[in-house]
Amino acid sequence: MTDCLGDGEGAKTPMELYEELTAQGDQVRALKTAKAEKTEIEAAVQLLIKLKVDYKQVAGQDYKAGCPPSENSVAPDNGPAASGGDDEDTVDPWNVSTTNAKGVDYDKLIVRFGSSKIDKELVDRIEKVAGQRPHHFLRRGIFFSHRDMHQVLDAYEKQKSFYLYTGRGPSSESMHVGHLIPFIFTKWLQDVFDIPLVIQLTDDEKYLFLVLNVVKIQKHVTFNQVKGIFGFTDSDCIGKISFPAIQAAPSFSNSFPQIFGSRKDIQCLIPCAIDQDPYFRMTRDVAPRIGYPKPALLHSTFFPALQGAQTKMSASDANSSIFLTDTPKQIKNKINKHAFSGGKDTVEEHRQDGGNPDVDVSFMYLTFFLEDDEQLEKIRQDYASGALLTGELKKILIETLQPMIAQHQERRKQVTDETVKQFMTPRRLNFHF
Ligand code: TRP
Repeated sequence: MTDCLGDGEGAKTPMELYEELTAQGDQVRALKTAKAEKTEIEAAVQLLIKLKVDYKQVAGQDYKAGCPPSENSVAPDNGPAASGGDDEDTVDPWNVSTTNAKGVDYDKLIVRFGSSKIDKELVDRIEKVAGQRPHHFLRRGIFFSHRDMHQVLDAYEKQKSFYLYTGRGPSSESMHVGHLIPFIFTKWLQDVFDIPLVIQLTDDEKYLFLVLNVVKIQKHVTFNQVKGIFGFTDSDCIGKISFPAIQAAPSFSNSFPQIFGSRKDIQCLIPCAIDQDPYFRMTRDVAPRIGYPKPALLHSTFFPALQGAQTKMSASDANSSIFLTDTPKQIKNKINKHAFSGGKDTVEEHRQDGGNPDVDVSFMYLTFFLEDDEQLEKIRQDYASGALLTGELKKILIETLQPMIAQHQERRKQVTDETVKQFMTPRRLNFHF
């Protein structure tokens, strides 16, 4: 247990307390990962909370993971205390889970991550600047959070352009429909703003300038900082610890001299799912220290697993996923068999009481892929009133996804090795910077 504080002897320095807190955070996470006894976890969490209170008293500031008290470094912008011991949703680049069938509490996440809500004002502004009806992902709050988007628009209005960066890690043979979300949205941004786009495929790390920036970032981020931001522990491999610098580097324009020449001041905008935010909190933290602008962000919600919005669709769990390589029959069977239903047990009950679209996975998927707002609203109402049955709702989803995926497969067939090679080659684009 901690010593008594404030009575001179035995009092701890802020640094000692900070280190104890970081270790205790690790301990709580390790217990949770190991699915230890509830009482054991609770005891560890209690100690963590007590340490936080002590720390605040001694250091005169809230504990911030990754920000040691005496180090004169910039705080990660509002990173969460990764060691949070309360009953929060889990959201990090490797895990997404909640106990709520409606999915993660995104408003809470905005507060925890310290990002900003994409409110009506911002959506209206995007419409005005882009001169286009906002994408339904914006209208429906699928992209719901941002960092510095107003700044991007301010600059754009003054003819200062920006570029887009997004990415994909290779997690399985095929991508699933959830992976499409950031790409669909990025394509829309690319079209309406007419700006360059870089896509990082994180198994393809070979470009010199990018690597120079990777090293620069690695030089300016401490182990303590990544520990705080990502929850790494002493037993994580060094590859994992150094990886965030690789994901950070494309946020800086001089990583791409073919596109931007020597300019290091071109603003970057990153559309991604919100679980990627820790990488870019780190990036935004390090940016001013190495003389680059902070990248701006647009965050999306998660694409729910077929089994329910408690987790996201995951390529490593084939039953939870509809892959872009699935046949029409597989799509149909998976939805009919696995898509969690907010309907009632019997038709009679359903007709009488109606279904719950808020927990119904088929309905949630339609909010992503059915573009017609009125049709979607009618489906919602009919399902909630009981006029529309679960089987009928699933049929609408199946008939929405089958052609969408078939078209994707059609276009995929046209892609030759030559096309791939061209896309993978660093090259000049048709933009002048
Ligand atoms: N980490 C991402 C993944 O696992 C891949 C990625 C790299 C990425 N750079 C990115 C995602 C930039 C969004 C934005 O798929």
